[in-house]
Parts: sequence; structure tokens; C-alpha cells
Amino acid sequence: MKTRHFLKETDFTYEEISELFAMAADFKRHRNHGTPPSLDKQSWGMLFFKNSTRTRISFDVGIAELGGHSLFLDKNSMQISRGESVADTAKVVSRYLHGMVIRAYDHSLLEEFAEEGSIPIVNALTDFLHPCQIYTDAFTIAEKLGESDLASLVGKKLVFMGDCDSNMANSWILGGAHMGMDIVLSGPPEYQPGEQILELMKNTEVRGSFEYVEDPVAAVAGADVLYTDVWVSMGDEAEAEVRKQKLAPYQVNLDLLNKAKPGALFMHCLPAHPGEEVTQEVLDTPNSIIFDQAENRLHVQKAILAVLGINKAQKHS
Ligand code: CP
Ligand code: NVA
Repeated sequence: MKTRHFLKETDFTYEEISELFAMAADFKRHRNHGTPPSLDKQSWGMLFFKNSTRTRISFDVGIAELGGHSLFLDKNSMQISRGESVADTAKVVSRYLHGMVIRAYDHSLLEEFAEEGSIPIVNALTDFLHPCQIYTDAFTIAEKLGESDLASLVGKKLVFMGDCDSNMANSWILGGAHMGMDIVLSGPPEYQPGEQILELMKNTEVRGSFEYVEDPVAAVAGADVLYTDVWVSMGDEAEAEVRKQKLAPYQVNLDLLNKAKPGALFMHCLPAHPGEEVTQEVLDTPNSIIFDQAENRLHVQKAILAVLGINKAQKHS
């Protein structure tokens, strides 16, 4: 059986995502009674080239709850930081580990790791995509709509406000459209969806749609969900001042939220910068489900790991 990876939102079919959501809901409901040990006796590495709070902790806890063992691999103490190739690193760690969770700048590092190694690779965020976040967020919306049922997302309008040329925007385009949602992206023309994602979308069949709308007020009309992310992503720090100036008209404040559908949900992957991309008032409004999102990272990633871990176990049986 071919080793499966989770590098992008379309790596699982629509039907598989539906099953993942059911599994995540089950893990969440029964967390206090234990989880089937899908990663029993498995060791998973976690290699992070960027900072993380939610992703790192939720994977660490999730691997333990599935009966596995995780190793946090500090990039600075790995030979990869002294020039050892990605290919050699991938081949070597594949001899020890059952899977790797990697957060990196360049998406192609994960693709190369997956290609050269022989264990499942999970994308814990790259400059291009953040698929664990999008699966979790979609699950959280479905949960708020009722039964954690993927089908309930079909035709729902999610507006992503701010830096539309970012990993989160790209992931909503690919993941949201794959799951049948209608994704609208609103930000300054300088930060509209970039070539890499547009090229990928040309070659990807999806159930939903995506569209760029420059005017934030026009964009939010009829929105079921209003989503934003930081204006300065990890790696963009040198452009911080220019970005803050250009993106200021796209701040999510109560005035803008009130122009969406009544009762529209507010979401943010976090960390947030109150006063920049979102006001504290919006973060505190009852419409805000930011901490449910954060919690659900654990349940949804456990489901992703369980599927990849079971596949890995079968490979060796
Ligand atoms: N949302 C998210 O991925 O958070 P961390 O950067 O803290 O992992
Ligand atoms: N766009 C943000 C997401 C953080 C979870 C970043 O890449 O820094």
C-alpha cells in the first residue's frame, strides 16, 4: 500500500473527510473515556521550523492520547540546520519513526520529505497551506450548524478578510471549495490570491467556489462566517509596517460583522493581534468561536493521525 500523506486539503476525498469528521466528533464526545490506540507503539517526530502554540501542543497531546509517543525535534539541534539534505534526513528518520508532523517555510520541503522518505508526513503549516487548521475550522462550523456533518457546509458562504495571498487564504480557497463552500476573499489588490493557488485551482475539481472581492462591505453581504488572520504572517516581518497600512481598511470590527448575515460566526486561527486585523470587541462577541476552533485542533488532528497511523501499521503487517 502506498504511504499516505496529509500535505494539502485535497489529500482526502470528500467521503473520507466526512468519515474524519464523524471520527473527530466521536473522539471529542468520548475523550474522557479514552481513545482507541490507533498509534499503539508508534513514534512520531515533530519538526518545527517556525513557532507554534496550538499545533505543537495539540499534536503532542493527540499522539499520546492515541497511544503513541512523540519526539519534538528542534530544528537547531538537527543536522538539517547544518546542511544535511532533506532527502537524507527523510530516509534516515523513516528508519526510526512511524510518521512526521512538519511545520516549515517552503511547502516543497514537505513534498520532498514525503517523496524521499517512507513514512506519513503531516503538514503542520507551510507558507503555502495550513490544512490541519482548515479541516478543524470546517469541522467547527459543521458542529455549530448541528451534527458535525460535512454536508451541512454545502453552499455556506465564508468570507476571508485581510491577507488573501497567505497560507490561510490559500487553504480556505482549496479546502473550502473542496468541501462545497462558497469562499469569498477580500483584501487590498496587492494581497489578492496569488499565482500558486490559482494554478493549483485550475487543475483541481471542486464542489464549491471561490471569488476575490476588493470591497469589504460588498464581500461580507450574506456571509455565514467571517474569518480573518494576522496581517503579518511568520516570515513576513520585514514588511510589517507596509502591510499594516495597506490592510487597515480590512479590519474586522463590529460595524463590518453587523453587515454579514445576522448571527454570522466569527473565526480566527489565532494567534490574534487585537486592534489590527480584528477588534477585541469582535473577539469577545458571542458570535466568536475562536476557542472552540482551537480546542477542535486536538480532536480533528487525532482523526487525521488515526487514519494515517492505521495505514502505516497495515503497510508493515
Ligand atoms: N493556529 C495555529 O496554527 O496556531 P499555532 O501557530 O500556535 O500553532
Ligand atoms: N498566517 C499565519 C497563520 C498562523 C497560524 C502565519 O503563517 O503566521
